Amino acid sequence: MQLFLDTTDVSVLKDLTATGLVDGVTTNPTLIAKSGRPMLEVIAEICSLVEGPVSAEVAATEVEGMLKEGAKLAAIAPNVVVKLPLTRAGLIATAEFAVQGIQTNVTLCFTAAQALLAAKAGATYISPFVGRLDDYGATGMDLIAEIRAIYDNYEFDTEILAASIRTPTHVTQAALAGADCATIPPTVFLDLFKHPLTEKGLDQFMKDWAQTGQSIL
Ligand code: E4P
Repeated sequence: MQLFLDTTDVSVLKDLTATGLVDGVTTNPTLIAKSGRPMLEVIAEICSLVEGPVSAEVAATEVEGMLKEGAKLAAIAPNVVVKLPLTRAGLIATAEFAVQGIQTNVTLCFTAAQALLAAKAGATYISPFVGRLDDYGATGMDLIAEIRAIYDNYEFDTEILAASIRTPTHVTQAALAGADCATIPPTVFLDLFKHPLTEKGLDQFMKDWAQTGQSIL
């Protein structure tokens, strides 16, 4: 399973890519606004730090604008993935980018039927928003399983990118449900490393080791 970071915070990104466990990055207009930086500049910097896919979202809502903005974003670096909303215009633009060989991430997916349309349009990634569905009173993770079944039934190549991840449990559940990737906020990524019994166990091992008076080196 590929793990992406959902962030525009370059210093956090530098720190976490050092783990060797970050396969890509996703951004959205909210995260760009949070960065307080020009979008083209921040996407270029992220692409210089990460070899894997970096999603950059269009702001236009009509096909022509999406195609122009997407072309500009894709020109920033070869690993840019153009992110488009799951609307009729977004899927028309997705299909055109597929013809041009430009990678796409179709975002704001909340139903399996939407995901089916995105795959038929030739999306590289589909982003079902698990956490926002949970907030809405649904079980977001069910959507990942439904999309997995549909994509497997028809051998669609579109990768399932579990998004709006809120907890380490979401990551586990997405992996069990067959998501290809998950995009994770940095705080949740850091939590993936942790368990109280890991900390307690290590503490005891270090105390016991100290009592031996030995040194490995
Ligand atoms: C994914 O592409 C989105 O940027 C992100 O996962 C949305 O997460 P949120 O619901 O926490 O804003």
